[in-house]
Amino acid sequence: MARPNGVLPLLLVFAFCLSSSADTVYDVVSLGASPLGQTDSAEAVRKAWTAACDSSTPTIIRVPTGRFFISSVEMQGPCKNVSVTFQIEGTLVAPTTYADNDDWIKFDHVDGVSLMGGTIDGQGEALWDCKSKGLSCPLGSRSLVFLNSRNVIISGLTSVNSKFFHIAIDASESVLVQNVKISAPVYSHNTDGIHVQGSRDVKIIKAQIGTGDDCISIGPGTSNLWVEQVSCGPGHGISIGSLGNDLQEEGVQNVTVTMTVFNGTQNGLRIKTWGGASDGFVKGVVFEHATMLNVENPIIITQSYCPNRRRCSDQNSGVKITEVTYNDIKGSSATPVAVQFRCSPSSPCSGIGLENIKLTYENFPANAYCQNAYGSASGFVIPPSCL
Ligand SMILES: *[C@@H]1O[C@H](CO)[C@@H](O)[C@H](O)[C@H]1NC(C)=O
Ligand SMILES: *[C@@H]1O[C@H](CO)[C@@H](O)[C@H](O)[C@H]1NC(C)=O
Ligand SMILES: *[C@@H]1O[C@H](CO)[C@@H](O)[C@H](O)[C@H]1NC(C)=O
Repeated sequence: MARPNGVLPLLLVFAFCLSSSADTVYDVVSLGASPLGQTDSAEAVRKAWTAACDSSTPTIIRVPTGRFFISSVEMQGPCKNVSVTFQIEGTLVAPTTYADNDDWIKFDHVDGVSLMGGTIDGQGEALWDCKSKGLSCPLGSRSLVFLNSRNVIISGLTSVNSKFFHIAIDASESVLVQNVKISAPVYSHNTDGIHVQGSRDVKIIKAQIGTGDDCISIGPGTSNLWVEQVSCGPGHGISIGSLGNDLQEEGVQNVTVTMTVFNGTQNGLRIKTWGGASDGFVKGVVFEHATMLNVENPIIITQSYCPNRRRCSDQNSGVKITEVTYNDIKGSSATPVAVQFRCSPSSPCSGIGLENIKLTYENFPANAYCQNAYGSASGFVIPPSCL
């Protein structure tokens, strides 16, 4: 034997160390998923989840390239270990049918789940078509939902054509959403990009979102939300609200939205509340470093939101809005009024701050409109502040 003694055992020890430190991988194809999208792969994903969730060491659930038809799947925790990574290379495809509003891909009570890469396709076309005909149709399934969860990462995911919201973070904490791309056509209904509610310490960093509804919507009970480097359009903008739908409602607190670009959207930075009594509130919001390109309502607060068939049109909103600052917001408005604060007569907006604003309409300074709104302006403010 030319090989010196001792190398083989050393190699074996090395290989053992490698494999014992590597996470266990569950490949959905080896568990029966069909990468040609011919059969329902939900059961294979469920099997992978059950195994991963039951593992006492970190695991990876791998979805290789291909199109995987998934009827719907709910992944329930708590799990044994705190690390389950979905490594998605392929596309998960939803049914085109829309009989109910059940969430499509849902995680509940999980801790330490990461979703890396991949595409999810909600196939919402038929439902939007139903809605646009004014027929009675269900609201639709949300595509990806994290409920009652913590330490979640969603990174590099592409979500297209959801039936209802694309991504929802609900009753969760410590969630990072980064490098996601979300798209649905401008005519699609209720296809909000990312919806956050009842959650704290959520960060959304680097997202490209274009949908038929809000790019990001922020519901009651959201605190410590950080939104950075989001481009939005088409869509209805980044919206805190609708709030004040309930008499007793958790507030929205400590939200920062920074370095955003809005292109051709209905709204830019919006806060909206329903008409009607409510103990909800908005407190401590910073909107900064935003570029508006031909946006209908670049800066807007409306406290009398009351779409069809509701008895709220004649009621004042009880939601109190305080400490909202707008700093370094520039660009073009698609309508003459670029800044509007339409606050509630019974609970006026206070502590609104405007600093370094330059919004034009057809190359001239746009207008501002204030109703029950109080605060201060500093630096250059165009249109001139009406606070
Ligand atoms: C999860 O697995 C890692 C690696 O084996 C281990 O260090 C950790 O203690 C486990 N956590 C739990 C909660 O079991
Ligand atoms: C506000 O939220 C940010 C994260 O967006 C966090 O770092 C900061 O500590 C929060 N402030 C308070 C007072 O909780
Ligand atoms: C804005 O949107 C229009 C229409 O989609 C597109 O042609 C244009 O390149 C976009 N501009 C920027 C700066 O993204």
